[in-house]
Amino acid sequence: MQIIKSLHRCLTLGLCAAFVAGAAAQGVAEGAQASTKLPNVVILATGGTIAGTGATSTTTVGYTAAKVGVERLIEAVPELKKVANVRGEQVFQVASENMTNDLWLKLGRRVNELLAQGDVDGIVITHGTDTLEETAYFLDLVVKSSKPVVLVGAMRPSTAISADGPVNLYNAATLAASKAAVGKGVLVALNDQISAGRDVTKMNTSTADTFRTPDLGFLGYMQDNRAHFYRAPTRKHTLETEFDLAKIDSLPRVDIVYGYANASRVPVDALVGAGAKGIIHAGVGDGSVHKDVMPGLTDARKKGVIIVRSARVGSGIIARNGEANDDELDFVVSDTLNPQKARILLMLALTRTSGTKDIQRMFSTY
Ligand code: SIN
Repeated sequence: MQIIKSLHRCLTLGLCAAFVAGAAAQGVAEGAQASTKLPNVVILATGGTIAGTGATSTTTVGYTAAKVGVERLIEAVPELKKVANVRGEQVFQVASENMTNDLWLKLGRRVNELLAQGDVDGIVITHGTDTLEETAYFLDLVVKSSKPVVLVGAMRPSTAISADGPVNLYNAATLAASKAAVGKGVLVALNDQISAGRDVTKMNTSTADTFRTPDLGFLGYMQDNRAHFYRAPTRKHTLETEFDLAKIDSLPRVDIVYGYANASRVPVDALVGAGAKGIIHAGVGDGSVHKDVMPGLTDARKKGVIIVRSARVGSGIIARNGEANDDELDFVVSDTLNPQKARILLMLALTRTSGTKDIQRMFSTY
């Protein structure tokens, strides 16, 4: 009876491939109570394409994200029962382009509450892929536990032929349930790869292999129902950071200004006028700033706004005192953080200090 119900669900959701592959597993798990031998993994759902639905099975762009609830996501992957005792919680339901600082604070607090419980061994967060890398880095800086936290998304909606959500969710739960993931910081699992939340970035608008870590590489593979790690993050994270959500009510305004030919100071002035406490400059090359933008940044700094030089190129270290005299200008450089991740670290840094030396230390540490 349960299998018939599940077949109906998979037809409704368009997840029949997952159903067929998992029917045998469900037969085994049917009627089983939570296993005391398996780790306990909580799946926190936040929306995105993994919870998206399209008009037809061939709709892989132009679908609606954030439609399917967490229980249906879990029911669609009966194989989850083989790797962990999973339970789900819908924290919010958004397309991730609409992510906000307040939603991050809510999610971070819930993750910390759950991980403090003795009966939670790991957490999976289902998330839209558009800002998944940002949420992953935010959590990497504020989660206070060494237990695994794994972000997962999908590039194809749940109704699509060959939807990638079910296998990604299975791999993420397997990773969150694994001892190998303990102490590795917040991880991202998509497309059979394990990546570090700090370093991974979305690089293709629509293909399933969109998450990459330029130059530095991913950490390992999900294969044969287990995690295979080959590297570990070396930057401090989670328990080793100085950021405490219990002491943070809100995050200060920090914005990003993009560098390009013929740029002007207009966006910088507008953001300072709007109350920005920090500006990330996504410069060209090694974080270079256009000569017509620089006066805007130096004026902003004189008003107390923290300026961080990052780069739009996608990889590499910004050389301090390289393309600008950062010591003289009292600027900070973003190390290897891309502009959207530099924004997150600067927001958190500003909850502790407005000293540029201290902020530079944080950019060299996390
Ligand atoms: C989103 O980020 O919510 C939509 C796109 C996706 O999940 O791939």
